[in-house]
Amino acid sequence: MFLSQINMKHLIEFLYLFSFIAFVIADEDSHTYKDDEDVLLWMNTVGPYHNRQETYEYFRLPFCKGGKESLIDRHHENLGDALQGVELKYQLDIKFKQNVEPTKYCEIELDQKKYESFVYAVDNHYWYQMYMDDLPIWGIVGEADENGEDFYMWTHKKLEIGYNDNQIVDINLTSDKKIKLVANIKIQFTYEVVWKSSDTLFRDRYEKYLDPSFFQHRIHWFSIFNSFMMVIFLVGLVSMILMRTLRKDYARYQKDDDLDDMERDLGDEYGWKQIHGDVFRAASYPLIFSSLVGSGSHILATSLSVVLFVMLGDLYTERGTVVSTAVFVYAALAPVNGYAGGSLYARMGGRSWIRQMVIGALLLPTLVSSTAFFINFIAMYYHASRAIPFGTMVAMLCIIIFVILPLSLIGTILGRNISGGASPPCRVNAVPRPIPNKRWFMEPSVIAALGGILPFGSIFIEMYFIFTSFWAYKIYYVYGFTLLVLLILTIVTVCVTIVCTYFLLNAEDYRWQWTSFLAASSTAAYVYLYSFYYFFFKTKMYGLFQTTYYFGYMAVFSIALGLMCGALGFLGTSLFVRKIYTYVKID
Ligand SMILES: *[C@@H]1O[C@H](CO)[C@@H](O)[C@H](O)[C@H]1NC(C)=O
Repeated sequence: MFLSQINMKHLIEFLYLFSFIAFVIADEDSHTYKDDEDVLLWMNTVGPYHNRQETYEYFRLPFCKGGKESLIDRHHENLGDALQGVELKYQLDIKFKQNVEPTKYCEIELDQKKYESFVYAVDNHYWYQMYMDDLPIWGIVGEADENGEDFYMWTHKKLEIGYNDNQIVDINLTSDKKIKLVANIKIQFTYEVVWKSSDTLFRDRYEKYLDPSFFQHRIHWFSIFNSFMMVIFLVGLVSMILMRTLRKDYARYQKDDDLDDMERDLGDEYGWKQIHGDVFRAASYPLIFSSLVGSGSHILATSLSVVLFVMLGDLYTERGTVVSTAVFVYAALAPVNGYAGGSLYARMGGRSWIRQMVIGALLLPTLVSSTAFFINFIAMYYHASRAIPFGTMVAMLCIIIFVILPLSLIGTILGRNISGGASPPCRVNAVPRPIPNKRWFMEPSVIAALGGILPFGSIFIEMYFIFTSFWAYKIYYVYGFTLLVLLILTIVTVCVTIVCTYFLLNAEDYRWQWTSFLAASSTAAYVYLYSFYYFFFKTKMYGLFQTTYYFGYMAVFSIALGLMCGALGFLGTSLFVRKIYTYVKID
């Protein structure tokens, strides 16, 4: 009985997930109304203004239910909704193009318990969110007077709804009739609906929620320009290094060999050329290393595709679709993970390839689910609507087991067979060469720690915009910027790690694989540090739930970013290393 319930539930969510592409192409609702047709106003959540993610079901506050006798539940429409804690309930009686004079819809007896709840809510700047025809509406519960002794609650909702032909294009909510909260009084709630004809086009109706003066601020453009200059500088630096090293080799090939012996003995045969017999030695911990690179490539492919999808499809307007898209694309791109990780592992001579594949495929899902699981406990303790429902968890588990793992297997098999056997340009010596002592700043750990500074510098302003749209109430819509920043980050990361690797190899240290990976992924450590600054200086979050949520998911975000940059750094650097050692002559 219990089992069959779960099955039905996750089957439904499963279907939702896989039919989401259909949702995107042909909208689920037509968004058109006939005159006098019921228009539903969904009460979603209520929560403190400063803690965006700490939301509770609307009726957790003792609002009266009134209006409609039975509340229709429409819980979660899609996977994204379920993961983001959208809970919809239906309350008022509204008909298309029918004005409603101020009307009482219900009344509550403010007993001591309800009184305390409302005072708490008003004191904590609670506000509520509603949806009508998929347009979000926000309203504030009440306000305190200046010295914080008396608390007032708004009891009248005035809805002004703009319609264009048979569609809803604009909604304004005005709260009115402030009532002082005193225990044991009766409070009446009223509402009013005014329909107005409007010229706004249906497809432009989300525009008023976007904030161009914030997102397209001069600083934003300036930062992109700045990063772009950095890209030019770095690309110049890398091409200079490449040319310098390669030109000498070209010159050598053209000259006669014996004429050149002197020069070779004296000056040329030091530095990176000395370690040609070790540079393609497998990295230490090849299993972990290839799993990290595989996951990082997977994340890179996913982020690029999601940004492209969202940008081309304007998906940010549909509630929950960005999250659903991300989950779907991540699952569909699992072969990338298998291919990158599996082929690298094979090249490094690894034998337990099934174990590598499983670890690579489960790395990020495990990280995300364990964080979510932990935060879920706190959410459940708080009874917050963010608690991820059990059915959704089962659905996610099914996606991991039945989609991500098999697709990774396919990728791994392809990777091992197609590019798993490629041999490096230089033979690896049987005995490892000792690594000479060098100056402290040439140590791999120092290079790794400093490598992230420039990539972080190229993205931190974008991070501010992304954080603000996630932790405050802005709708992120400038996905073109994201794409640009992603490209800039890619180039900067690759260039920086190439330069780092060049210095490392010149110091005759051949441990470049881990160094290049870590030098790139230290970007994420800086992002995580920045998130602390952001938390303390840019937000007013408080409370255990919101704080854990913030730092938990920021850690997940940073780790994912770190894996992505690390894979980028390593893959870019291996191209460079292969290239320069192709020209080394081995006597
Ligand atoms: C909502 O408010 C905005 C700004 O005050 C106004 O331009 C718009 O006409 C209003 N819409 C309706 C339907 O009243």
